[in-house]
Amino acid sequence: TVVILDFGGKYAQMVARRVREAQVYCELLSYKTPWEEILQRQPKAIILSGGPSGIFTDNAPACDERVFNGDVPILAIGYGMQLMVKSLGKDIKPGSKREIGPADLLVDIDQGLFQGMGRKMTVFMDSGDLPASLPEGFEVLAHTQKTPFAAIGNGKNLYGVQFHPEESHTQCGREILNNFLFGIAGCSGTWSTRAFIQEQIKLIKDKVADKKAICALSGGVDSSVAALLVHKAIGDNLTCIFVDHGLLRKNEAENVIKTFKDKFHMNLIAVDASKRFLSKLKGVTDPEKKRKIIGEEFIRVFEEEAAKLGKVNFLVQGTVYPDVIESVNPIGGAVKSHHNVGGLPEDLEFELIEPLRELFKDEVRKIGLELGLPEELVYRQPFPGPGLAVRVLGEVTEDKLSILREADFIVTDEIKKAGLYKELWQAFAILPNIQSVGVSADRRTYTHTIAVRAIVSEDGMTGEWARLPHDLLDSISTRITSEVEGVNRVVYDITPKPPSTIEWE
Ligand code: XMP
Repeated sequence: TVVILDFGGKYAQMVARRVREAQVYCELLSYKTPWEEILQRQPKAIILSGGPSGIFTDNAPACDERVFNGDVPILAIGYGMQLMVKSLGKDIKPGSKREIGPADLLVDIDQGLFQGMGRKMTVFMDSGDLPASLPEGFEVLAHTQKTPFAAIGNGKNLYGVQFHPEESHTQCGREILNNFLFGIAGCSGTWSTRAFIQEQIKLIKDKVADKKAICALSGGVDSSVAALLVHKAIGDNLTCIFVDHGLLRKNEAENVIKTFKDKFHMNLIAVDASKRFLSKLKGVTDPEKKRKIIGEEFIRVFEEEAAKLGKVNFLVQGTVYPDVIESVNPIGGAVKSHHNVGGLPEDLEFELIEPLRELFKDEVRKIGLELGLPEELVYRQPFPGPGLAVRVLGEVTEDKLSILREADFIVTDEIKKAGLYKELWQAFAILPNIQSVGVSADRRTYTHTIAVRAIVSEDGMTGEWARLPHDLLDSISTRITSEVEGVNRVVYDITPKPPSTIEWE
């Protein structure tokens, strides 16, 4: 195991992804984790992530000092390097300017960390406050014009860099990380998806034995892969419950049923609860109220179905690593306030099985493909738990849903045909509940407007509106106004997040 100490921001996650890409297993721990707990993981190496904090801010985060006094190989990045230098007894002097962004790195010692990659490269710098001098035994491995100590090391186990090797803009970033992992720390790159599947199947088999498990299957990537993996382990002792709340996209429910029942022969209970949800949503216009109603009703339907199964001991959930990290954000503060439908309350009397808890999304996708899940499902764009209810603005009715469903289908279809589906974080239609005047065959019409939203994003936290080709927008608009009855106008949303959110509600 490689332990990554997380100093906040998105840096640590990125480092973890790079380490996993090198087929090395790693775990993210809060920077506060005591040395004893770190040691329990028997780390082959420890990486200190950069972080948004400065060493001079109040309550600047600091890890257990024993990290620097043992003989575990350490790579301290950005803020982590300042902390290491300070812990080893040297002063950091406040920098007047932070050097952030690409810079030319000149390598002074092209061995160890910089083995085999030439003397000059572009790196993504992030240095503000700088060491006044180096701790004993350390030497400069590389510098930039502005930053004399851009990379340092003690020739034994301690290394520090003032740039981000995990950043895609850092040339040779992977090689530098790999030199640290394989050359310096002696890790072996043997962590693989296939081995993971075998290991999980065995663990789940041992855990469940001949008891029963259930899973709330949504048709999204995470719950699908989790269900499939558990099914491989325990077969018919797993029952999946698929609640169709009537707020799904065109053909979605049929596809889920086809995939899991017909293709994988899983025990699937599909509940068509659309009437129930729609009647609960009648007259409700407030977005948060809609979310709450849908969340609660979902749990009710799920519990009713689960109760019919008799004694069930385990609940399978598609929790993935970013969910876990978000819920233990080291700097504190909730990142996400979304109520995720399918997120069940914690007081249900089940023991949890979360086979994907340690995986990133791209790893979950690889496992899905390996398990034979159709590509279409594996590469599905995210879809909110409350479904189309947050895309029909205001009151949700069957008529509005049906207009939106058709329009949304066309948006997806055209985007897929243009080969852009995988490149976009999300692309979908919204029914803003506005009617406007139009003309059709010389007759005045007064019907709905459809808004189209397409977003480019890494993680949904921020996003740009996609610069879709005009011809593509044109075919979307032409098809929607001609094929979907009740729509005479199509608009394209050109706001990034922030200030807008991705969804309209
Ligand atoms: P926003 O609209 O907040 O969306 O920019 C960010 C991401 O979260 C999804 N989203 C939701 N997912 N339940 C969910 O499970 C929700 O209530 C919800 N609201 C938004 C949204 O689709 C985007 O990917």
